[in-house]
Amino acid sequence: NWSMGDFIDDQIKEIRAEVGDKKVLLGLSGGVDSSVVAALLNKAIGDQLVCIFVDHGLLRKNEADQVMESLGKGLGVNIIKVDAHERFYADLKGVTDPEKKRKIIGRDFIEVFNAEATKLHGIDYLAQGTLYTDVVESGTDTAQTIKSHHNVGGLPKDLHFKLIEPLNKLFKDEARELGEKLGIPHELVWRQPFPGPGLGIRVLGEVTEDKLAIVRESDWVLRDEIKKAGLDESIWQYFTVLPGFKSVGVMGDGRTYDYTIAIRAITSIDGMTADFARIDWDVLQKISARIVNEVGHVNRVVYDITSKPPATVEWE
Ligand code: XMP
Repeated sequence: NWSMGDFIDDQIKEIRAEVGDKKVLLGLSGGVDSSVVAALLNKAIGDQLVCIFVDHGLLRKNEADQVMESLGKGLGVNIIKVDAHERFYADLKGVTDPEKKRKIIGRDFIEVFNAEATKLHGIDYLAQGTLYTDVVESGTDTAQTIKSHHNVGGLPKDLHFKLIEPLNKLFKDEARELGEKLGIPHELVWRQPFPGPGLGIRVLGEVTEDKLAIVRESDWVLRDEIKKAGLDESIWQYFTVLPGFKSVGVMGDGRTYDYTIAIRAITSIDGMTADFARIDWDVLQKISARIVNEVGHVNRVVYDITSKPPATVEWE
């Protein structure tokens, strides 16, 4: 008998009763969960909600604009966007170890978020997009350990807020349905998972701006072709990886010596196990041709045919 409309009405009442005339802070990642919370709180309390969106420069092409467009302009959510890419790039310089990269990105993210949050005054609440599964997976009250490990962000440690987690009784699919009902565009709500460290773990080894551009552009082409082939909702996750080595190729009548792009596309239920997607050869051929033609410094495209286990979904 559960209806999404009733859920929204109930939540709005509850949130208003709890928050009163106080302000609520929310870290927007561009992901589904935080976007849905933003839309819900915006409907309940309007501009008493302040969102901080940290752009770490490791997002996919057009992603930051899309968030500002659909949530900011479209739904009127109050968003402070912080362009922090220079800091992230500087701190990642020379770092090659995957876990170190993750730690740096996570740490910088929290520091940038906290620095911005401390500029705000009169904030009593922090909202988070914790789902039911996050709570269950992590036992009773340790949701933070999983979330902060797995998602960029986590609870700002020095700031003392009361927590609001309006999605903590919902499964992912319900959160998505809620998001659509609240007017978030279909593509944003149903999009594939994207890791907090973003493209930073898809450039293997040291992250440079040149390499980031190659991954970003090739990912863009891949997503376009997957969508055109009508596969964007059946393949669980799909992206490109830049392993970083160069190999010999031939273009026109010249020899090339350039990078290889690897395509990772998997089917999965929850990301814990995965199988490589059986994409049609013709679709792969188109993707390969376009990446080599449209993305500079790439002369070879390979397809990852490993399952998880033994491989992971991401390459780092
Ligand atoms: P792996 O590579 O562990 O990926 O097989 C499983 C799923 O988790 C995502 N992933 C991450 N998500 N922060 C995240 O928020 C991370 O550090 C991270 N590492 C992997 C990955 O994209 C896949 O969906």
